[in-house]
Amino acid sequence: MKNIRRRWVLTGVAMALGAGMTAAHAEFPDKPVTLIVPFAAGGPSDKIARDLGEALRKKLNQTVIVENVGGAGGTLGTARVAKAPPDGYTLLVRHIGFATAPSLYRKLPYKGVDDFACLGLINEAPSTLIGKPTLPARTFDELRKYIAADPGRLNLAHAGVGSASQLCGLMLQAAMKTTITSVPYKGTGPAMTDLMGGQVDLMCEQATNAVPQIEGGKVKAYAVTSAQRMTLPALANLPTLAESGLKDFSVTVWHGLYAPKDTPAPVLRKLNDALKAALKDPDLIKRSEALGITVITDGRVEPAGHRHFVETEVARWKKVIEASGSYAD
Ligand code: MLT
Repeated sequence: MKNIRRRWVLTGVAMALGAGMTAAHAEFPDKPVTLIVPFAAGGPSDKIARDLGEALRKKLNQTVIVENVGGAGGTLGTARVAKAPPDGYTLLVRHIGFATAPSLYRKLPYKGVDDFACLGLINEAPSTLIGKPTLPARTFDELRKYIAADPGRLNLAHAGVGSASQLCGLMLQAAMKTTITSVPYKGTGPAMTDLMGGQVDLMCEQATNAVPQIEGGKVKAYAVTSAQRMTLPALANLPTLAESGLKDFSVTVWHGLYAPKDTPAPVLRKLNDALKAALKDPDLIKRSEALGITVITDGRVEPAGHRHFVETEVARWKKVIEASGSYAD
């Protein structure tokens, strides 16, 4: 008799715990959700996070705060989220650097992809090769000859080792068989200000941040880094680097949403549902398309699809980075 009673008690406890867990998660989110952007304000990651945050606010019916934690090519902000409480209230918006950092950094302040739960891929966009307004070269071919005449004369701004701008710059120099002095920033937001002001010469910047400045005539545009040209009217005549002579050159920058790895499954499900609904938000889509960004609509919006994509990207970039021999430390 005692055993049966004990079993009933245990079953009751399990159900209460289960109910307790479900009740707690049913309330989620009952306080603001923070999106950590691992770069300074004013750059493409910041822009993407703010647009996503606004769409998520509507779906979660909860305040969404964007916090910039820049430094070390995005790895400091990423570590902040890896160490955050796994409760779904601190999330990471990070781009391709999430997949390149494990190969670029011999010592990362987090355990790479395994410290995170993938919530879904957000978008992808090309980068652009842009220059300060006073640069004499008007085309990529003229720029290539200008650099070849005196390789040390120009510098290139980027957002630190592991940033998209640095990776693109690395690939550009390898493809052009030259080296260009680099000038690191905490994000390409502040770097763009200096480029427009003429304090730095070149940048390989995501379309997200470059399109408004190109459309406004604030910077010189030489090429896009994607395999295909952009379709935005102001950029339709901008050649790809591949058609400009850098055979097979193709860099597309993607952004994903991540939570700390031990975040409970019911919370991850709620966040993924909100993300998928946010990516269908007409306002988000309109804002994205105006900047040449493609919002993800395929299986990579699901956690498993996102995770698989990241793992293939980690493997792909490992080969490229090992071949280039450039490491962060
Ligand atoms: C930014 O938001 O500042 C950029 O994503 C930095 C970079 O990756 O180049």
